[in-house]
Amino acid sequence: MQEIVKKAIEGLNKTYSPYSKFGVGAALLMKDGSYITGANIENAAYGVCICAERSTMFTAHNLGYNLKTDVAKMCIVANTEKPVSPCGSCRQVMNELLPKDLVVVLANTKGDIKEVTVSDLLPYSFDEIEL
Ligand code: THU
Repeated sequence: MQEIVKKAIEGLNKTYSPYSKFGVGAALLMKDGSYITGANIENAAYGVCICAERSTMFTAHNLGYNLKTDVAKMCIVANTEKPVSPCGSCRQVMNELLPKDLVVVLANTKGDIKEVTVSDLLPYSFDEIEL
């Protein structure tokens, strides 16, 4: 299993998902060799739940990283039959903050993976350049 998948599983192990009982983990491999991990964090007020992907990207941003230049790879993992795929809201944020050609490893806890890019996940995207 790729190291980044193991790190995303470490993120998954921190999930707070008592409502859906669907844990998701994510990991960012930074170009400095470090990993930043995260999980989905739910709330009794369902609308303020945050997905693992955004949780992890926002952590990296708030630690001072520039996500456009400092990320080498991303991984998302869940305990699913097939590799998990990010929701539309997370795709929009990934599209804004990460390089379009960044490789994203979609994974499950069995170690099955599918590698895609950010632009594969959100073709015909609405970008900040269009504002
Ligand atoms: N979830 C994620 O963390 N990432 C996704 O891309 C899809 C959904 C979370 C949100 C919620 O806590 C749970 O999975 C069920 O939707």
